[in-house]
Amino acid sequence: MEQTLVLIKPDALKNSLTGYVLSLLSEFHTGLRFAGAKIVHVNRMLAEEHYAEHRGKIFYPSLIEYIMGRLHYHDEPRKRRVIAFVYQGTDATKKMREICGPTNPHVARDTRPGCVRSLGTIVPIKDAEGKIIGDRMDNLIHASANDSDAEREIKLWFRPTDIPPSMRVYATEENEDYYYFKDGRLMLSHEPGGRCLLAPGDIAWRTDLEALGKLRRGEEAPVALEAVAAKYLINVHPEEE
Ligand code: GTP
Ligand code: MG
Repeated sequence: MEQTLVLIKPDALKNSLTGYVLSLLSEFHTGLRFAGAKIVHVNRMLAEEHYAEHRGKIFYPSLIEYIMGRLHYHDEPRKRRVIAFVYQGTDATKKMREICGPTNPHVARDTRPGCVRSLGTIVPIKDAEGKIIGDRMDNLIHASANDSDAEREIKLWFRPTDIPPSMRVYATEENEDYYYFKDGRLMLSHEPGGRCLLAPGDIAWRTDLEALGKLRRGEEAPVALEAVAAKYLINVHPEEE
């Protein structure tokens, strides 16, 4: 059974489009079902892992600010949220990408009127002197681009226990160790300020446990520590101003 990640971005929340967008994605229209849902205050680490492929690009800093809700809720940090969904069903990724439409809202309006992103907008990015140095695409929604992105993204935003056991499609395993995260480092015992990621008996994504096993031995892992940790730090820390 195929799964895909959908994010309702801060501009959609700000414009009260959540209900409208979700109705377009409903089982009646798509044949897809919810497997997971959560309201997320997006911290910088999660934002940077989600958009890791765009690191270094001119629009990257504004993309991070955007997904963190800092642009649309500049003076209202408590309203900074994204709604994350896992949808499940045949051709889940393809169906969701079709309803979203092209990345660029202007292209979306020209070529796919009626798609979600045709309701988005493009905003100029200015430097400190006010000179326009590029633009930002406020396109309301994210949907995984392909199967491997869907797996990476679902495992980044969701813990296995956020998804009903009968709907989990990626392998899980019972963890046997204590893992903590502090100041960007993995630790095996608690220190003040350390956050417990996993305790013995917890159910985790198997690929996360394989990565933690490598990282604790000082080996290179296919998954960054931040990508393992991010899902356990969602909605934990107070607001970043
Ligand atoms: P997502 O569902 O958000 O991942 O969009 P996508 O898969 O259609 O596009 P992609 O992953 O390539 O880009 C991620 C986000 O970066 C987009 O939603 C845009 O907001 C932004 N972006 C991508 N390409 C450009 C670009 O060329 N210029 C600008 N300004 N923003 C871009
Ligand atoms: Mg993408």
